[in-house]
Amino acid sequence: MFKRKNLFSLLSKCLGFCLIIAAPGVAVRAGDAEELVTTRCAVCHTLEAPDQSALTLQEKVGRKGPPLFYAGQKYQQEWLTGWLQKPRRITPSGGDFWANSVIVTDEGDEIDESKLVEHIALEQGEAQIVSDYLMSLVAYPQLTPDLDYTPAKVTMMLARKDFRKFKGCSGCHRDEPDFGGVTGPELYTAMDRLQPSYIVSYISDPIAWDPHTLMPRKNLNEASILKLMNYLNEIKEPSQ
Ligand code: HEC
Ligand code: HEC
Repeated sequence: MFKRKNLFSLLSKCLGFCLIIAAPGVAVRAGDAEELVTTRCAVCHTLEAPDQSALTLQEKVGRKGPPLFYAGQKYQQEWLTGWLQKPRRITPSGGDFWANSVIVTDEGDEIDESKLVEHIALEQGEAQIVSDYLMSLVAYPQLTPDLDYTPAKVTMMLARKDFRKFKGCSGCHRDEPDFGGVTGPELYTAMDRLQPSYIVSYISDPIAWDPHTLMPRKNLNEASILKLMNYLNEIKEPSQ
């Protein structure tokens, strides 16, 4: 049995310890999220929908990170909260304007590693409130109507050939960690990171999201997009 004095000192030690543990959680409140994002993220990410018709190619070239003003339509929140605490590269060439870090050679595009920077990481409490805040940002609701996507099996060899060769997606995207282009985001983690309705919408009309995207609008029909979705689902890897 503890003597009274010992018990007291034990309790006070524990209290001090518990306060230290709780402190990071207390320091960030939901209301702080907008301020945190404005001060620490807005230098590289757009947080308000721009007037698309006024966007210039210059704006695209000067972008330091992907836009976040439609985050609520784009990300799976669980992924977002985790990634903000442990960010890792999604676009092999860095995710800002590709020409900043890609050297074009006769053998294909090479990445200038010295131009790539580590992404800022957030504490758990911060990541939670920031992801809640980002998920509230919606800009183009008409582009992601409710989608009832039920994955179906595909014949892998054909589906891979369709993605890589017939649709030409691997010119810019990877469907395996070491295979494919470096200018677009990796797609073997797309189904883990992104909402299915966003993926369908982006494939069907990337220009509606971003007038100066590199990704071409191929006018694919619903069946072709569904085939690509099923392939992305089949190759899905957890992204963290
Ligand atoms: C110095 C510039 C910079 C700052 C500051 C910055 N980011 Fe980023 N962020 C980037 C770049 C570049 C990428 C693309 C990474 C990739 O594709 O590999 C990125 C990617 C992301 C992504 C994933 C985007 C996607 O769709 O693939 C999220 C979410 C994100 N940042 C949120 C934040 C938040 C929240 C903050 C502030 C706490 C922040 N970023 C601060 C440059 C920055
Ligand atoms: C010429 C290069 C290019 C081609 C070809 C291309 N894409 Fe993209 N794609 C991009 C880039 C770059 C982005 C990121 C947005 C941006 O910067 O414009 C993107 C974004 C995407 C996204 C959203 C992913 C994310 O993490 O934000 C999906 C899904 C996608 N592409 C699927 C495809 C599919 C499927 C094909 C083949 C039908 C394809 N893309 C062909 C360049 C390309």
